[in-house]
Amino acid sequence: MRIGLLGVGTVGQAVARALIERRDVLSRAAGANLVLQRAAVRDLSRPRPLAREQLSTDPFAIVRADDVDLVIELLGGEEPARALIAAALERGRPVITANKRVLAWHGPQLLAIASTRGAELRYEAAVGGGIPLIAPLTDDLAANRVTELHAIINGTCNYILTRMAQGETLEEALAKAQEAGYAEADPRDDVEGVDAADKLCVLVRLAFNAQCTPAQIFKQGIRALDPRDLSYGRELGYVLKLLAIARRSPGGGVEARVHPAFLPADHPLARVDGAQNAVHVVGDLCGPVMFSGLGAGGDATASAVLADLVHVARRLALGDPVPPQRESGPEAQVTPMSEVRTRCFFRLAVDDVPGVFAQITRVLADHQIGLASVIQREPGRLGSAEVVLLTYAAPEQALANAEEELAKLPSTRAIKARIRVEGQK
Ligand code: HSE
Repeated sequence: MRIGLLGVGTVGQAVARALIERRDVLSRAAGANLVLQRAAVRDLSRPRPLAREQLSTDPFAIVRADDVDLVIELLGGEEPARALIAAALERGRPVITANKRVLAWHGPQLLAIASTRGAELRYEAAVGGGIPLIAPLTDDLAANRVTELHAIINGTCNYILTRMAQGETLEEALAKAQEAGYAEADPRDDVEGVDAADKLCVLVRLAFNAQCTPAQIFKQGIRALDPRDLSYGRELGYVLKLLAIARRSPGGGVEARVHPAFLPADHPLARVDGAQNAVHVVGDLCGPVMFSGLGAGGDATASAVLADLVHVARRLALGDPVPPQRESGPEAQVTPMSEVRTRCFFRLAVDDVPGVFAQITRVLADHQIGLASVIQREPGRLGSAEVVLLTYAAPEQALANAEEELAKLPSTRAIKARIRVEGQK
């Protein structure tokens, strides 16, 4: 089984190394002799674990090569990765990719080409690095109707929030995440929730049979968070995470959203720290199941790429046909964010004058928002008091309207934070 590898960066190198060092183990598992035949690189002068004649700077040449049976795409980014995957599938070549961006934005189209051409497209490494997620959601949980999914699928943000909880600033923690190699080439994709939304989109299609594009996913990043919010949360028994959330809504749609959220400290995801990823799924038969592990890094991601490789090679060696893609059920649509119901944490800077509390509670009552907890701090040197409110569940639209009105109260100096709360204590 002759492999064409596109991209020899962090993950590509780990894949190439394992293909050379673990060739026997992998070939035995696959029931086929696995050979790293060709690789596309950007820079021919850098040392590689392949001979010069196996390398090319033109990834399309590798896709077209007659001595390549299977393509592994690890270039990342949207183009030319999408075009390369499409070209390989058009030629009937199986493709394995770790490319979350391409899968999120072009997955359905590429899977349609794969289906027409009788070629397989596998992407276990696209979400959650080394954690098996795609295969379990596709096969192992197939009997279930998934009701909700909560995920920590951006290691950079989880790393930053873990360190912010220990007193570091977002900037200091982000610099460390970049040094450790967790962050995207453009770290705004991490901190603004773009990367997590791409990954959630892939999970939503599989877990909920839902039509979903990343553009439909509500996204809010972690940039505006203040360490004070983390510490108030702790006081109330919550931990702050950037969550990717999907849930069946009563109207028959599926909620799909990425935003910072407080989780009860005893929730299984609350204990997932640093660059770790985890996905917590509730199925109607299996109940809650959690997958966790390393969501980024060369070796961990290579582990998922190689799992796909073993699957594809074994099937080809046995001459088995490509398994049919799972039929989409009646399409569930993404529920508009304005209809999503959540509990909310507000932090307000207010004048320390009589009647402030009455005004605040009046606004909440006007919007049918119940109050669950309250903290008030007396004014410090700045002269404004700080009020923290934890509400009961209300529709997003009502919470947003209440926020607007609270901001307009004469005694309000600033709305410092509005953070959604997930899970029940
Ligand atoms: N930037 C990503 C993260 C890398 O931090 O999770 C893995 O997809």
